[in-house]
Amino acid sequence: MGQIENVLSENRAFPPSEEFRAEARVSSEQAYQRMHAESVARPEVFWDRVAQDLPWIEPYDKVLDWSDAPVAKWFSGGKLNASAVCLDQHLETIRSGKRAIIWEGEPGDTRTLTYTQLHLEVCRFANVLKARGVKKGDRVAIYMPMIPELAMAVLACARIGAIHSVVFGGFSAQALADRIEDGGCSAVITADGGWRRGKVLPLKKEVDAALENLAAKADAPEVHTVLVVRRTENEVAWSEGRDVWYHDLCAEASTECEPEPMDSEDVLFLLYTSGSTGKPKGIVHTTGGYMVGAYFSTQMVFDLQDEDVYWCTADVGWITGHSYIVYGPLANGATCVMYEGAPSEPHEGRFWEICERHKVSVFYTAPTAIRTFMRWGDEHVERYDLSSLRLLGTVGEPINPEAWMWYRRVVGQERCPIVDTWWQTETGVIMIAPLPGVTATKPGSATRPFFGVDAAILDEDGKELGPNEGGLLAIRKPWPSMLRGIWGDEARFRETYWSKWAGEPIYFPGDGARKDEDGCFWILGRVDDVINVSGHRLSTMEVESALVSHPVVCEAAVVGRPDDVTGQAICAFVTPTKEAEVGAALIAELNAHVSKEIGKLARPAQIRFTDALPKTRSGKIMRRLLRDIAAGVETVGDTSTIEDLTVLAKLRGFED
Ligand code: WTA
Repeated sequence: MGQIENVLSENRAFPPSEEFRAEARVSSEQAYQRMHAESVARPEVFWDRVAQDLPWIEPYDKVLDWSDAPVAKWFSGGKLNASAVCLDQHLETIRSGKRAIIWEGEPGDTRTLTYTQLHLEVCRFANVLKARGVKKGDRVAIYMPMIPELAMAVLACARIGAIHSVVFGGFSAQALADRIEDGGCSAVITADGGWRRGKVLPLKKEVDAALENLAAKADAPEVHTVLVVRRTENEVAWSEGRDVWYHDLCAEASTECEPEPMDSEDVLFLLYTSGSTGKPKGIVHTTGGYMVGAYFSTQMVFDLQDEDVYWCTADVGWITGHSYIVYGPLANGATCVMYEGAPSEPHEGRFWEICERHKVSVFYTAPTAIRTFMRWGDEHVERYDLSSLRLLGTVGEPINPEAWMWYRRVVGQERCPIVDTWWQTETGVIMIAPLPGVTATKPGSATRPFFGVDAAILDEDGKELGPNEGGLLAIRKPWPSMLRGIWGDEARFRETYWSKWAGEPIYFPGDGARKDEDGCFWILGRVDDVINVSGHRLSTMEVESALVSHPVVCEAAVVGRPDDVTGQAICAFVTPTKEAEVGAALIAELNAHVSKEIGKLARPAQIRFTDALPKTRSGKIMRRLLRDIAAGVETVGDTSTIEDLTVLAKLRGFED
């Protein structure tokens, strides 16, 4: 099979400033090289040293056991508790009075919890769960808005050894029911509602519908408790016996709760993620390795300092929220901002207002958000004092160089390094990213592998490719926070992630990438998004970046559609700026632009303008749906994760 052609050339590089480097945790190339080499050559020695930072209840006997590959055991024999790592260890220190969470609700209400207060609330929450009969090993679904009780619920489960399965609050009742069923959850934690774009998301109602749906099934799990946190005070239906108000039970619960000593390999959580086919996969993460990875990567990639105010804008319903709102930052004793609502509520400068108000210094968001801010205009950012910012991050999809440059210039004021972090639900933590005090960043590249990560570009036969040859991204060694399986489906786990290449187990993340002559990785997107035009395999991402680099293009999604002559032809869905004059002249101009940026072979056969692209609720463009639209076929398969179904309907209405 041929290689993926790499056609977008991007040569800008931005080394860290001297000021940044002077204060950074790791600040020399030699240190990175030495640490990285050791972490890959002798992972047991490296991770043993890192793991010493965590408060183990009982020490482990063995750092890594890979004898049962691809199921790894890290820190076997050790016991710890994730909530104690996040909370209890700080109580005896100067951090006890430090702010752990600074929270803003969408309507403007605020709450601040110190480490001492958060610890107390988590203990109380844990006792409420115990009082309802939730035990170690039980699965608990959490379906909540972004309120402090969401973090408390997660940590309370961890405290008593219950396995949490957080389901993003934007998912439908059906999606929730599927996840409750697959995980065999016996309790659900939810809220009456949450605020989103000035409206109440009726979460309890969705839970009721999900459970009704399950009740009709023969072998569905029995949910004995629905614990409801009061947030929006909307009317809710009540099922006596099953439903309980959190505040009622809370009043009677003790604020003392010893953390359950968990085995390093006890399951900490399940988190569902969709593949390109089939039902969602319950990704399994365990306690010891995950906590070591979350703790260390947060500290290193965000160069976390004690005085930082750190804000990750993700929802806790996604892996980014698990690792970089809850577990990683709290394990480091950081001050974290948490925001409930939409970035446009009540105005398009809300995020920057929050940054100014709380003096945010580290800000971590997604490319889709960055492109939205770009579209809204610089003035919404420039109205606020962002001088507290010192580091920016991005995650979730490849970032177009144009959006990266905008982020750097307008938000980072050319001062803040940008860490573009590549990783997945399955990897648990960041795998490829700059070390901000060392790595020269490049717009569009996640740069270099994190410690312990042995990343390579392979072809279909497992041969390692040379510089700038596009191929399949592969991880050749186990790492502490790696997934331990897919809940209830070991065969699918082996098949999806470990069977791409013969021989020693190599992890296949499903992404295409290339590595440049400096050893920097450029993620080209999911391999199933690769388009083959006349035998040239093109990454959708590169064509999209070329389109987005045109001044009138805000966002672009590119898919392949069947073509008799060329095999596949490129079809581009383009969201123009408000000022743009849409028409044949613009299409010609964009074609010429792509030809110039990449070459004639990448010119879209068709460009369609649209006000919005179909996205998942986590902001990923749903190319699968666009492919069907481009091909003019009915969509088959699951559309339950789409954010706004009207977008799809509008796109369907288009004529060629
Ligand atoms: C994509 C999110 C390019 C990639 C943490 C991966 C990225 C999938 C990046 C995982 C990045 C994530 N650059 N692509 N910095 N980060 N991706 O499980 O295709 O929601 O496989 O985890 O997102 O998405 P997931």
